[in-house]
Amino acid sequence: MVDPAEFIDEAVAEIEAAVGDASAVIALSGGVDSSVAAALAYEALGDRLTPVYVDTGLMRKGETEQVAETFSYMESLEIVHAQERFLDALAGVTDPEEKRHVVGERFIRELETEARETDADYLVQGTIYPDRIESEGNIKSHHNVGGLPDRVDFEGIVEPVRDLYKDEVREVARELGLDDLVAERMPFPGPGLAVRVLGEVTEEKLHVAREATHVVEEELEEYEPWQALAAVIGKATGVKGDNRVHGWVVSVRAVDSRDGMTARALEVDWDTLQRLQSRITGSLDNVSRVVYDVTHKPPATIEYE
Ligand code: XMP
Repeated sequence: MVDPAEFIDEAVAEIEAAVGDASAVIALSGGVDSSVAAALAYEALGDRLTPVYVDTGLMRKGETEQVAETFSYMESLEIVHAQERFLDALAGVTDPEEKRHVVGERFIRELETEARETDADYLVQGTIYPDRIESEGNIKSHHNVGGLPDRVDFEGIVEPVRDLYKDEVREVARELGLDDLVAERMPFPGPGLAVRVLGEVTEEKLHVAREATHVVEEELEEYEPWQALAAVIGKATGVKGDNRVHGWVVSVRAVDSRDGMTARALEVDWDTLQRLQSRITGSLDNVSRVVYDVTHKPPATIEYE
């Protein structure tokens, strides 16, 4: 990759040239890719850029507050509280690809409303190189804003980080002075926690996945994993206090990877694993079991759906 400072100058110039005096919108997810794309576009366009963050209710713990704080310098930032609309749309949906589709569709609707209201001419996206490869191979429907250009009459789409790998995006984030919480943020799927709870998405399962993922990210930080997460994979019998309970099974997964296309399960020491299970079962009454996933990708994927 070129030097990060040079990359930033070139990307800002490219956005200025592409958008001219017009206006643009970007979907900000809180992840490093869209954060870097938004920071570059804001530098180029100022308040002619409307960054839109949609709180889908499928986000990680504290994510909405963190985005609001990190990007508070952007006066045009719009935070859309859409948790109920997402949960309603997901009610009764159990098929993984259908879940992705429902989340993607709802997401596009929310953005469509914002894009129309702001009269944006251009769409800025934080697509990175591996996203393009996976989408071309049709391995998984990456939702984000793929369907938006069909619904809103944009003059064009600008993808300033389209040729970068994740580690290169992080370098640019650091060069831009973005908070470490953003620059070092683990990847998170577009459909969010919906693909970390098997079967129907309910508030109860989301709560377990969100709290457990938070514990996992904290406890495994020292391993510097490419990604670490917790998923709700079913129910099993356990004993809590004097009672037998039929509680949730939480699977902990941590992997090393360069680009998410292949990954190796992380070797974690026993004490850390025990601390994880004790914190998760101790803080969540309805969790009866914690398991650790030792499968590489392939044959498994990183996420559970
Ligand atoms: P998998 O589960 O396919 O994930 O091994 C590879 C990487 O991609 C992320 N991921 C997604 N990102 N939309 C996204 O934007 C999605 O639908 C999606 N599914 C998985 C995943 O978190 C991992 O980093």
